[in-house]
Amino acid sequence: MSARPTPFADRDDLAVHGHWLLARLGKRVLRPGGVELTRTLLRESRPTGVGVVELAPGLGRTAGEIIALDPRSYRGVEADPDAARATEQVVAPLGTVVTADAARSGLPDADADVVIGEAMLTMQGEGAKAAIVAEAVRLLRPGGRYAIHELALVPESIAEEVRTDIRRALARSIKLNARPLTVLEWEDLLIGQGLVIDHVRTAPMALLDPMRIIADEGLVGALRFGVNLLRQRDARRRVLAMRATFRAHRSHLRGIALIAHTPQ
Ligand SMILES: C[S@@+](CC[C@H](N)C(=O)[O-])C[C@H]1O[C@@H](n2cnc3c(N)ncnc32)[C@H](O)[C@@H]1O
Repeated sequence: MSARPTPFADRDDLAVHGHWLLARLGKRVLRPGGVELTRTLLRESRPTGVGVVELAPGLGRTAGEIIALDPRSYRGVEADPDAARATEQVVAPLGTVVTADAARSGLPDADADVVIGEAMLTMQGEGAKAAIVAEAVRLLRPGGRYAIHELALVPESIAEEVRTDIRRALARSIKLNARPLTVLEWEDLLIGQGLVIDHVRTAPMALLDPMRIIADEGLVGALRFGVNLLRQRDARRRVLAMRATFRAHRSHLRGIALIAHTPQ
């Protein structure tokens, strides 16, 4: 793993999406509920011995955990060609990765037992969210499981002005139109495509808190991230701004994991 080149080293610190900035600084876990919520998601989606499709694997951090759980097959669908290559290195020789939009994967109908996607629906608009969930349903066999890990807003009664403030603050700091939903809105998105909800879990949104960074990246990974931050002024400013945004809105943000299945 250490032999791999720094991902996305050619992307501008001031304009690049927040997740690629973090990736470039050495952060591998790029999802709101951290590695613990991912492990819960993997345990409950039961990928061992079955066919798995991962939508938007990014750098392949979860892909590595899926492969370690011994699926029968692994296929990734990633929009970014550099990320697709990074994941391909993690999953070979068992797995493959196609560079494609998750809403139009090109993979066959009803051929997967589990479809997993983390930190990728939040960044889509309403229509694209529904199109990606519909694609996951198309890929799944009857009774197959769809597992997602995303960013949630709490409480359900969150005021429209607060929601708008949060969206604007996230857009400014991560340079991406993140559109988190409330827990019930996430459930409705899946139910609206014919899925049946099995499990819903939430965890604090603590992506850039020091203790979460150590839990997600390990001590060595956390130190590498810290050293890279100290060395790179523009990147450091942006990461501090992202952290300030997450902290300012901490009481309204959660990581959420949902597992649902297609009817038999
Ligand atoms: C925040 S990263 C999350 C990566 C990974 N799932 C994780 O949790 O570490 C978002 C990823 O979603 C990918 N992505 C965004 N929209 C996509 C789409 N419509 N189809 C496929 N991949 C997409 C991005 O290229 C990026 O790799």
